[in-house]
Amino acid sequence: MQRVLEPEYMDTVEEAQSYASMNHSTVNGHFVDRFLALGGGSCRKVIDLGTGPGDIPFLLARQSAIPSILGVDAAETMLQIARPAAVRAGLEGRVTFARADVKALPFAEAAFDGVFSNTILHHIPEPVLFVREAARVLEKGGVLLIRDLYRPVSLDEAKRLVALHAGEAPKDQQQLLLQSLCAALTLTEAVQVAKAAGIGHAKVAMNSDRHYSIEIAR
Ligand SMILES: C[S@@+](CC[C@H](N)C(=O)[O-])C[C@H]1O[C@@H](n2cnc3c(N)ncnc32)[C@H](O)[C@@H]1O
Repeated sequence: MQRVLEPEYMDTVEEAQSYASMNHSTVNGHFVDRFLALGGGSCRKVIDLGTGPGDIPFLLARQSAIPSILGVDAAETMLQIARPAAVRAGLEGRVTFARADVKALPFAEAAFDGVFSNTILHHIPEPVLFVREAARVLEKGGVLLIRDLYRPVSLDEAKRLVALHAGEAPKDQQQLLLQSLCAALTLTEAVQVAKAAGIGHAKVAMNSDRHYSIEIAR
C-alpha cells in the first residue's frame, strides 16, 4: 500500500480537542515504561517532540524524578490545552511547553539528554528532517525513543487493526486511526530514515501489532 499523507499539524480547535478527548492511557503507559527501560529515568533535561496535549510528559513526570521536561508542538491549539493542564496537575515549571517545528528545532546541538516522540512521524512528509533534528539535539550517551504507527501491507489489514483497536470508538476516531496507519512508514522505510538521519546504529523494531520504535539506550 502506498503512503497517503494526512495534514501535518493538528491545529484547528476541533482537531486538538478531539485528539485530547481520546483515551490513550494504555499506549502512553507502555511508552513511558519503554523510555524508563532505556535508561531515561536518569535524564536531567528531556524534550517531547510533537507533544500534543502533553499527556506523555505529565505521565513521565509522575513516574520519574526528571527535573525538566519540555513539550514542543507546532499547533498552538494543542499548547493551549497542555499549558493549563500542567497547572492543574501541579507540574508547572517542571513540565513546560513551547511552540516549535520539529523539522527545524530552535535548540543547540546536544541540548537534551533525553529526546522522545510518540505518533507524530506519520504526520511529517519529510521524516528524515525530523529524525535528523531529534538526533542533533540529543547529547552523546543520551536516550532516544521515537515511536509511531507503522503502515500495514494493505488497506484491508489497516481496517482490521482499526476494528481491533478502535472498534468501539466513534466513527471519526476510527477514521483518524485509519488515515494515520495509511500515512505511516513501513518498518523498512523507518530503518532507511534512521540511516539517512545519521543514526543507523539505533534499534528499529516493531513493539506492538501497529507500532514500531527507533531507540537509542543509555
Ligand atoms: C497524533 S498527535 C500525537 C501527540 C502526542 N505525541 C501524543 O502521543 O499524545 C501528533 C502531534 O504532532 C504535531 N505535529 C505534527 N507535525 C509537527 C511538526 N512539524 N512540528 C511540531 N509538531 C508537529 C501535531 O500538531 C500533533 O499535536
